[in-house]
Amino acid sequence: MRTALSRSLPTLWRSSLSSARSAPAWIHFPYISKHSHATAPPPSKPPNPHQDTNHIQARRPDISETYQPPHRFREFDLEDRVYVITGGGRGLGLAMAEALMEAGAKVYCLDRLESPHPDFHAAKEHAQHKYGGSLHYRRIDIRDSPAVNNLFTKIASENGRLDGLIAAAGINHIQSALEHTPENLHEIMDINYNGVFYSATAAARQMFNYNQKGSILLIASMSGLIANKGMTSPVYNSSKAAVIQLARSLAMEWGRYGIRVNSLCPGHIVTPMAEQVFQKEPASRAVWESENMLGRLATPEEFRGAALFALSDASSFMTGSTMLIDGGHTAW
Ligand SMILES: NC(=O)c1ccc[n+]([C@@H]2O[C@H](COP(=O)([O-])OP(=O)(O)OC[C@H]3O[C@@H](n4cnc5c(N)ncnc54)[C@H](O)[C@@H]3O)[C@@H](O)[C@H]2O)c1
Repeated sequence: MRTALSRSLPTLWRSSLSSARSAPAWIHFPYISKHSHATAPPPSKPPNPHQDTNHIQARRPDISETYQPPHRFREFDLEDRVYVITGGGRGLGLAMAEALMEAGAKVYCLDRLESPHPDFHAAKEHAQHKYGGSLHYRRIDIRDSPAVNNLFTKIASENGRLDGLIAAAGINHIQSALEHTPENLHEIMDINYNGVFYSATAAARQMFNYNQKGSILLIASMSGLIANKGMTSPVYNSSKAAVIQLARSLAMEWGRYGIRVNSLCPGHIVTPMAEQVFQKEPASRAVWESENMLGRLATPEEFRGAALFALSDASSFMTGSTMLIDGGHTAW
């Protein structure tokens, strides 16, 4: 039977697998290096006389020590790459940071929190042992444009590169339009729009500086596309619409230089931000769940794949786009 997996395997591996059916029990597959796909002669191993050769397990080639599968989905590999994630101290930003780190990247989480959520330390520990990537924390307020520029310059110069940014820092503000004060409005726009603008331009400056391509993902929201029921946040919604438009505009300016810019519009996710809404408007959780085609809210981990796709070469032809991942909330 030819499965979808076997169809996607490189020819060398496929032919090794099919010829192995008639091969003697001790035969080894050629070693395939992760990076070069070079072949090396397999170490010879005599047949084990104590094995029951009538049993299928005994007849199977022993591939465990000598065989390494080809580098699957190489375009998702982030080894040696360097990324910044604003709002990476907790919630969605931290879940995305962990995903990039698992793919081998060095990830700098920037946040205004004095120290990141305990999950950050658990992820950091986990990473270095298992995946080779790493997590780092830097405290900053993204409204401080010169400080943002300096920090991006420092990170890029320490590593000789900057491959991408996820701009996830943001705040929500639940209040009717008539009750918003000018201070409320300025604070929301200053973080959700200006801060994202400062971060994106600071990242692109370093990509130009090091003459490299890169990928930038701006975290908007489905609230930038709809006025969602159960959440009275007129300025937050507008700030997210502005972020979607910013991504398109920056994509147009920087595309010819190999810098891609996209936005992500998540539906409702259970994070500290959403918990704050539930505290203020307890009925909103039930409304959000009933408005969702899956009948539930998302977890931050459900956006790991989107982060990896957007920041890696897997999305090399995607720019100026809006990724809408909302459990069908806006589809009916
Ligand atoms: N939770 C949701 O349902 C949801 C849905 C759609 C979009 N989003 C967006 O996802 C992003 C992440 O949100 P989250 O749900 O993880 O919320 P969160 O509150 O858990 O995380 C946001 C992080 O941004 C940081 N931050 C806020 N202002 C900052 C500033 N001035 N400088 C530096 N850091 C700052 C916070 O300290 C926090 O760690 C936000 O942009 C949010 O608007 C969230």
